[in-house]
Amino acid sequence: MPNRTARIGLSLGADICWPIAYETLLDRLNLDIKVGRDRVTFDCDRVTIEPFDLRQPVKYDVVIDRLTHWYSVSREWIKKAIVLNDLYVYNNPWSLQSNEKHTSYAAMMRLGLAIPETWMLPPKAYDPSEDLEPTLRKYARMFDLNEIGDKIGYPFFMKPYHGGGWKGVTKISDAADLHRAYDASGTEVMNLQKAVLPYEHFVRCVGLGPQFRIVNYDPTAPLHDRYRMETDFLPEADQKTLIDTALTINTFFGWDFNSCESLLKDGVWHPIDFANACPDSQVTSLHYHFPWLIKANLRWSIYCAATDRKMRKNMDWEPFIKIADSDRSQDEKLAEYAKIAHKRLETDKFRDFNRKHLSHLDELAYDFFGSETLRDSIHQKVSAIFPAHEIGEFTELFWNRIQDWREREGKHGDQEFH
Ligand SMILES: Nc1ncnc2c1ncn2[C@@H]1O[C@H](COP(=O)(O)OP(=O)(O)OP(=O)(O)O)[C@@H](O)[C@H]1O
Ligand SMILES: [Mg+2]
Repeated sequence: MPNRTARIGLSLGADICWPIAYETLLDRLNLDIKVGRDRVTFDCDRVTIEPFDLRQPVKYDVVIDRLTHWYSVSREWIKKAIVLNDLYVYNNPWSLQSNEKHTSYAAMMRLGLAIPETWMLPPKAYDPSEDLEPTLRKYARMFDLNEIGDKIGYPFFMKPYHGGGWKGVTKISDAADLHRAYDASGTEVMNLQKAVLPYEHFVRCVGLGPQFRIVNYDPTAPLHDRYRMETDFLPEADQKTLIDTALTINTFFGWDFNSCESLLKDGVWHPIDFANACPDSQVTSLHYHFPWLIKANLRWSIYCAATDRKMRKNMDWEPFIKIADSDRSQDEKLAEYAKIAHKRLETDKFRDFNRKHLSHLDELAYDFFGSETLRDSIHQKVSAIFPAHEIGEFTELFWNRIQDWREREGKHGDQEFH
C-alpha cells in the first residue's frame, strides 16, 4: 500500500490559543488511516513568510489561513499555490478579495433572501487624482441626502461597503444623524441599510465546511460576553433556516470558514452581515464555543487533506441563479440551494469519514480541554491582550466556561458523527 503524508500548514498571525489546541489534538489523534489505496499519516507545521520563486513547489496539501484578508504576501503565495501547485486552502482567496460585503448583499438579494433594504452612497470626500475633477463634474449627480433617508425610513445603519470589524458603523435615527455621519465618513464608500429593530433574536451561525454552530449573540455586551452560552434556544425549524442560509452563502462564495449574522423580526430571519470569511477564532471571544471550533476545524482539515479535496477555483453561480429564477416558493428555493451546498461540500462522505477515522476525537478533546496545556494557552492569550491586573480573573473565566462545555457537551461527544 503506498504511504502518503498529508501535510497541513497553519498560516497564522497573532493567534495563540487555537493553533496550540489544534496542533496538540492532531498530534494526539496519531492518525494512520487507509484512504482509497493509500495509507495516510499527517504532518502539520506553521507557514513562514519569506521570498519565493513562483515555480517553487509547495509542500502542503491544505493550508488553514488567517492572513489572506489583510496580509498580501501570504495571500499572493496562496493564490500561486492554488493555481500552480493544487493547494487546498480554506476560503477561496479570489472570492475573498472581490466579493466584499456589498456584493454579498446583492448576490443574496438575487437568491431571494430577506436582506434589509440597502443603498450605496458616493463618498463625501476624495483623494485627489487626475481624472477626478472632470469625471465628477460631468457625471456626479447632486443628491438630496434627506430624500434618501426618508425613502429608507429611520432607523437605519450606515456602514462601510466592504465591512471591517465594526469600524465606521453608525446607527442613524434621524436626518441630523445622517448628515453628521455622512460628513464624518470622509473617503469611505458607505452602505445605508434599513435597521432590523427591534429584533427577537440576534444569532451568529459559524460554519466550517458542512458543520455549523448557532450562537446567540449580544452585540451590546463587552467583547468577552457577546457570544452567549445557551444552546438549543431556537426551534428546530429556525435552526434549519439559519443553517441552510449559511450553507447557501458559504458555498456560493467558496468560503469554508465563515460566520453569518442574522436577526429575527416578525417571524422572518434577516441576514445582515455574512462576508466574514475567517471569523474571530480567539478563545477570548468564543470561550464556551471554542472547543466546537477546534474540533470542527480538525475534522474538516483532516478530511480535506486525507481525501485530497480539490479546490473549486471558479465560483459557478449559475445553478443557484437557475433555482432563484424558478417558480418555487422561497422555502423550497432555500432547500434547493442547501442541496447544492451539501453536494459541493460532500457532507455525506465527510460524515462517513469522521465515523470511520475520527471516532476517538471526542474523548481526546474532552481530556485536552480539561488539561494544563489548555489552561496555559488561555493564560498566554489573555496575557497578550488584557491589562496586567485582569489576567488572573479572565484566564479563570474562560477556563471555567470551557469546563462548563466539557460538562454539558464534551462528555457526550458530537452526536452527528456517532
Ligand atoms: N440592518 C441592521 N439592523 C440592525 N442592526 C444592525 C444592522 N446592520 C448593522 N447592525 C448592528 O451593527 C453591528 C455592526 O454591523 P455589521 O455587523 O454589519 O458590521 P461589521 O463591521 O461587519 O461588524 P462585525 O465585525 O462585528 O461583524 C451589528 O452587529 C449590529 O449590532
Ligand atoms: Mg457584524
